[in-house]
Amino acid sequence: MDYDAILNDIYADVQPLLGHGAIATYIPELAHVDPLKFGMAVQRLDGRVHTIGDAHERFSIQSISKLFTLTLAMQREGDAMWQRLGREPSGNAFNSLVQLEYEHGIPRNPFINAGALVVTDIILSHFGNAQQSVLDFVRRLSQTDDLTFDAAVAASERATGFRNAAMGYFLKSFGNLHNDTVAVLDAYFHHCSLAMSCSELARAATFLANGGRLPWNDESIVTASQAKYINSLMLTCGTYDSVGDFAYRVGLPGKSGVGGGIVAVMPEEFAVCVWSPALNESGNSLAGTRALELFTTLTGISIF
Ligand code: DON
Repeated sequence: MDYDAILNDIYADVQPLLGHGAIATYIPELAHVDPLKFGMAVQRLDGRVHTIGDAHERFSIQSISKLFTLTLAMQREGDAMWQRLGREPSGNAFNSLVQLEYEHGIPRNPFINAGALVVTDIILSHFGNAQQSVLDFVRRLSQTDDLTFDAAVAASERATGFRNAAMGYFLKSFGNLHNDTVAVLDAYFHHCSLAMSCSELARAATFLANGGRLPWNDESIVTASQAKYINSLMLTCGTYDSVGDFAYRVGLPGKSGVGGGIVAVMPEEFAVCVWSPALNESGNSLAGTRALELFTTLTGISIF
């Protein structure tokens, strides 16, 4: 399989799409990103890496952080977390409030914002310092010591994240946040502000393609069953209310972020990350989704 040639073909193919869709401007600091950026990285389990375009440029990972916080929470809390969270696609926008009311404060899944706030609450209860523990964890997964939060992005979201704040207090009213709401929100905004490149994100997700173990030293991050659970949740909930379209077109479990990144996993083979900042209506990268569709089509590799 000539991955480099395939990435070259994809790069050429997506050029006309770059800039189509909309940059996430509801977090003002994200509005400065160049909409024409495009990068892609494939991290294979044997250590080989294939990249194209802006694959080494860091961007705001936003909701891709929910993959790492879920992993950490699952590692520490195990199945008990499912008393506070569902495992079904929401069929609503990632920041919707309505479902929480009639489902009594139990978020549909850990990847919508409400679910991720509960996950952050779980991490706070276990570690005390949710920000540092997540940063240390993602540094370990990506083998990159100089990863940092983007303070400007975190502050921008804190200043404008009224909907998330509403969600936090709403969860608290149902007894589904155990820690101080402001502390949970602050940790959540910081996790979302992590700046990483496609190559770093693909590396950080490889344990999910490798039965829960880091391929370079065989260290166990989660059990093989838990890796299966996380991949299944990505497939059914990772790209929000276009998760059906994403699964249909791409055929891989994937997790998106409003910074324009999408991470996807092919068990036993690779983790792949694509970045293109302009988004479709559901908040997933428009050209990024197309690039992943082309990737599974041209390689002939998907979970199906
Ligand atoms: O909470 C928010 O709205 C953002 N920090 C993250 C949302 C996000 O990335 C959803 N993904 N597609």
